[in-house]
Amino acid sequence: MTDMSAGPLLIADGVVVDGLRESDAAAIFEAQDDEIRLRFGTGSPSTLSQALEWTVNAIEERDEFRAWAIREREGGPLLGKVTLRCTEFGPPDARQRGAYIEFWVAAAARGRGLAVKALRAVLEWAFDELGRDWINAQVECDNNPSQRLLSRLGFRVVDETTFHERPAVIVRLHRSK
Ligand SMILES: CC(C)(COP(=O)(O)OP(=O)(O)OC[C@H]1O[C@@H](n2cnc3c(N)ncnc32)[C@H](O)[C@@H]1OP(=O)(O)O)[C@@H](O)C(=O)NCCC(=O)NCCS
Repeated sequence: MTDMSAGPLLIADGVVVDGLRESDAAAIFEAQDDEIRLRFGTGSPSTLSQALEWTVNAIEERDEFRAWAIREREGGPLLGKVTLRCTEFGPPDARQRGAYIEFWVAAAARGRGLAVKALRAVLEWAFDELGRDWINAQVECDNNPSQRLLSRLGFRVVDETTFHERPAVIVRLHRSK
């Protein structure tokens, strides 16, 4: 087992956001409750071996994709996950540097500020260190906890879409400086 980290270590108030490890696969699999399956559909592992395969894939070093574990202390159990997929397009003098963020927190750890703190840390890092101009998220219209979270972080609706035939919106946060 390589236990290599993917994203860099980010420490916020009471939250550690660090690279996924192969040893997180079981916690990722166990956290896949109905809510996470509903939100991520086929992006949610249905077996432990699939969770392990996806975890190994996610921790491979790649410029355009990062995955983090959300923990309450360094070396502690995985309580949630954040991924960032970067995109770039347009001519060199008007280059658009964006990214798409996805996230979840295990049901037993929700409602104590883990997501808001972890996302703040990842967003700050994506703007300051990765030079992203904007970050997008896709959220279904009936996903109230996620809508509130993203709105609290400053995301605003830029488009309407559907996800698995359910109405959804694209929300965006621009770099402020
Ligand atoms: C959306 C989701 C990630 C939120 O995770 P969470 O860790 O419960 O979020 P937080 O605890 O940061 O915020 C939730 C609430 O706790 C409150 N909270 C409690 N203690 C807090 C603290 N110490 N600091 C900040 N907020 C705190 C927040 O204000 C927020 O209140 P609200 O419900 O009135 O909006 C979680 O519900 C989830 O995983 N859902 C399923 C997957 C999903 O929908 N992912 C998003 C796909 S777009």
